[in-house]
Amino acid sequence: MSRLIQRREFLKRGAAGAFGLTILPGLITRGAPSDRLRVAHIGLGGMGNAHMRWFAAIPEVEIVALCDVDKNHLASTLQSLKELHPNTQAKTYEDFRHILDRKDIDAITCATPDHWHAQIASLAFESGKDVYGEKPLSYDVAEAQLMLKKLKKHNRIFQLGTQIHATENYHRVAEIIRSGAIGKVHTIRLWKTGNSPGLGFPKPQTPPPTLNWDMWLGPAPWADYFPERCHKSYRFFLDYSGGVFADFWCHIADIAWWSVGPRGLKSVVARGEKTDGIADAPKWLDADFEFDNVKLHWTTEPPNVPGAAERGIGAWFEGDKGTLICDYRTRSITINGETMEDIPSISQTIPQSPGHQQNFVDSVKSRIQPESNLEYAREMTLPMHLALISWRLGRKLEWDHKKERFRGDAEANGMLSRDYRKEWDLV
Ligand SMILES: NC(=O)c1ccc[n+]([C@@H]2O[C@H](COP(=O)([O-])OP(=O)(O)OC[C@H]3O[C@@H](n4cnc5c(N)ncnc54)[C@H](O)[C@@H]3O)[C@@H](O)[C@H]2O)c1
Repeated sequence: MSRLIQRREFLKRGAAGAFGLTILPGLITRGAPSDRLRVAHIGLGGMGNAHMRWFAAIPEVEIVALCDVDKNHLASTLQSLKELHPNTQAKTYEDFRHILDRKDIDAITCATPDHWHAQIASLAFESGKDVYGEKPLSYDVAEAQLMLKKLKKHNRIFQLGTQIHATENYHRVAEIIRSGAIGKVHTIRLWKTGNSPGLGFPKPQTPPPTLNWDMWLGPAPWADYFPERCHKSYRFFLDYSGGVFADFWCHIADIAWWSVGPRGLKSVVARGEKTDGIADAPKWLDADFEFDNVKLHWTTEPPNVPGAAERGIGAWFEGDKGTLICDYRTRSITINGETMEDIPSISQTIPQSPGHQQNFVDSVKSRIQPESNLEYAREMTLPMHLALISWRLGRKLEWDHKKERFRGDAEANGMLSRDYRKEWDLV
């Protein structure tokens, strides 16, 4: 038997033994196909339109409402929906609370900017609706805690919109690592290239009459309008998000949490640079995290490991028997200096996802949480928030993972939450 085949046999046995047969919750029970799910989409910019198209393609779903604080986005998304479903009866709303009042709606999707995610999801849970919500899960740590509390209290379903989670590649990477193929993983390196732009120094303008700027700002501090602060590029302002770092963290940290499950965070230290414009998210950010079971590093430049330079986003896993590097679509594994692009004979113990949105729909029917559920999403997102706090304060922070508080640092603890504008404090 060649060394390669021996290794494949080992990997195969390892995968079946260590991980066992795991069936995704969403695949266990499918509700009756006649049960049509009535869905509303809230936030209709770039990602909200993707939501609308994805859900419009699911036969069990009927899109019954659309909502945006920008009348132009509302009108153009309704037009796109009519092109897909000419007989649509979907109603349009500027204020999402009218959607939550409707008893005939089962689920919402939320693709507003980050600073609205938690309040909209929490109020949706309270009104008995399930939520497919965009990443990052929330604006800050306290909001994610609140979301989890409300989800449990109201027994709702939540799927984080990290659609890459559903890809075949991520499923197989998680399976290979969890099988023990590269041994015990002690170091993880994650990276995403590309800086957050400064956006110049635009002058305040009167908001367009088609935009409800006060509601767009919602719980965030009041700020004068200029287009750079609003659609799409809001993500480069700390009042609403956290730049490229916060934007991409979940997509690639996901595979680290699924494969290894970093736990017992002890400390975080982040370095970075301010942009040279009005946008105040970090131009770039690097961070080191120490967990009980693994060390995790985030960098803006690819790390100095084989195969990283050609990947703009990626994850590197270093175990005591080998290494694995991957991105959204590719993976390669190196054991004893020999590199394989794939391990064809590994048994597939994690079934392929039916699709990220279908997984959510299945979960709404079965009442079994989907793959990127809120509990999982919260664990995976929390270190991102802490790294932003470390960067803002310019110091290393010690974390008590049981209490979910920084040790001996009142200033840092004060940044785990923020006060909402009074009129938009809805939860
Ligand atoms: N999963 C992914 O791959 C992915 C990709 C892109 C964006 N996203 C996420 O999707 C979200 C939206 O990003 P985007 O790029 O589409 O931004 P965008 O600015 O293009 O769209 C946001 C939309 O939300 C609307 N909005 C703001 N406040 C609202 C409110 N209170 N009620 C209703 N509508 C409101 C805005 O008017 C706008 O139309 C972000 O959280 C982002 O991180 C996820």
